Amino acid sequence: MTILQLINQRVSVALAAAGVADAPPVVQPASKAEFGDYQVNGIMAAAKQLKCNPRELAQKVVAALDLNDIAEKVEIAGPGFLNIHLAADYIAQRNQAALQDDKLGLAPVAPQRIMVEYSSPNLAKEMHVGHLRSSIIGDALARIIEFVGHDVIRANHVGDWGTQFGMLTAYLVETQQQDKPDIALADLETFYRNAKIRFDESPEFADRARDYVVKLQSGDASILKLWRQFVDTSLTHCEAVYHKLNVSLGREHVRGESSYNDDLPVIVQELRSAGLLTENDGAQVVYLEAFRTQEDKPMGVIIQKKDGGYLYTTTDLGAIRYRYHTLHLDRVIYVVDARQSQHFAQLFSISRQAHFAPDSMQLEHVGFGVMMGEDGKPFKTRSGDTIKLIDLLKEAEQRAYTLVSTRSPELPETERHAIASAVGIAAVKYADLSKNRLSDYIFNWDSMLSFEGNTAPYLQYAYTRTQSLLRKATDYDQHAAIVLNDSTEKQLAVALTQFEDVLQNVVESCYPHHLAQYLYQLATLFSRFYEACPILKSEGAVRASRLQLTALSGKTLQTGLNLLGIQVMDIM
Ligand code: ARG
Repeated sequence: MTILQLINQRVSVALAAAGVADAPPVVQPASKAEFGDYQVNGIMAAAKQLKCNPRELAQKVVAALDLNDIAEKVEIAGPGFLNIHLAADYIAQRNQAALQDDKLGLAPVAPQRIMVEYSSPNLAKEMHVGHLRSSIIGDALARIIEFVGHDVIRANHVGDWGTQFGMLTAYLVETQQQDKPDIALADLETFYRNAKIRFDESPEFADRARDYVVKLQSGDASILKLWRQFVDTSLTHCEAVYHKLNVSLGREHVRGESSYNDDLPVIVQELRSAGLLTENDGAQVVYLEAFRTQEDKPMGVIIQKKDGGYLYTTTDLGAIRYRYHTLHLDRVIYVVDARQSQHFAQLFSISRQAHFAPDSMQLEHVGFGVMMGEDGKPFKTRSGDTIKLIDLLKEAEQRAYTLVSTRSPELPETERHAIASAVGIAAVKYADLSKNRLSDYIFNWDSMLSFEGNTAPYLQYAYTRTQSLLRKATDYDQHAAIVLNDSTEKQLAVALTQFEDVLQNVVESCYPHHLAQYLYQLATLFSRFYEACPILKSEGAVRASRLQLTALSGKTLQTGLNLLGIQVMDIM
């Protein structure tokens, strides 16, 4: 159990003993150092419920509260807060346990089967900055949830089906490039643009493209082969981005829209049997009472068009059904642009009504805002084009290289390149992950590459500092006891025990910025400790203990940053 959970539990017991049933203790890390290490805020509300004096209730709670094994002092403050000062040796003991453990002392959980669906680009075009946030946020969530002990299934729900693929394959054939798709599609963006030009200018080509769509849908072997080539090449482009971005998605996680084709007629069938379908002008529609049109009528979601075609929602229903019936998931997390929130709300509602997903399978749309340029408009190139993701990442590495070369000209060039690539990519990722995902945010190279403030370089540097200290202390004893004397030392040590609470919070809320915020706080506390407490210059047991705290700080920073998909280096 974490310290927070332990205090919660003990205070609940004490509240019950003082005569309050079911009052939440509301325990938090203390907001100021003078309030101790944790504060209990729930007593005032409990007193209100009992209609008694909060300070008197606080006294009763303290009398019944047993924290002898972990706290050195519990004080009543203000109108009825409790301030808990933890015992230094208890904190030290938790630190010691974390240091000896690969998982930093995390308690095992009852594992759930959790799918994190993320990235999911459309394969007709190249990945652009619009796919960045889903890839970064989704990957961090997958890593964190997995580390905490759940069974994570990563899913890349790529858009690999639809009318565009008729046009694209027809263009491959027309330009006689079907035998060398790698070359033809080296620049997917240009290929798509040219195909579209042909489609718009030539009715004859457009007809052929439509014919290809029909052939594709009816499973024509030669057209399917072309389509597969196209999809394969496009996925190779995505993989280059994932690799550069250190995103843990591979071919094995791809399950595209096309894989649900055969299920779509079944979906229609099952919706009909469930009595959910209405025919409207030839189309099959589900009307949802909970969603209203402007005229206050139930909103309709089209499942199958008049011409027999299926829609985005139909495929998503197929995916949910598969995820329950075949994968038996407990929870599905969709990391997709917040602008799709209505789609997901409707999708989940239909799935529940049709029993494609029982209530026991949690469905969550984890949305995010738009990435903006400095002009406050959606991020574009100067000429107004969307920016290819791969180009953006190359620019990040380039800028970081200039930065690293100015700061550390003495390092060999290859090393500077390696550092620059880690710093540049980390800067882009951390700028995103450190903000509340629901807000739009402004993409700014200078602030994300700064070595000051809540940035990747600052945190990476804090880590390298721990490593350089440990390198210099050649004789350091990895089993030495941690002894906390100084107050900055103790604050750092307490923060180090909170890692598990933070991770659990992210698993529940799907807000990775809570982990970022924690790591920033940790780095700041470490640097205060480093300034206030001599490490290498101290002696004996004190020196050994401080080195142990340094080691645990490094290990926690490293683990936390890696969970955000960010690499650390021993030197930078
Ligand atoms: N391919 C879609 C797009 O680029 C995102 C897919 C999101 N996932 C889903 N299950 N609908 O907008």
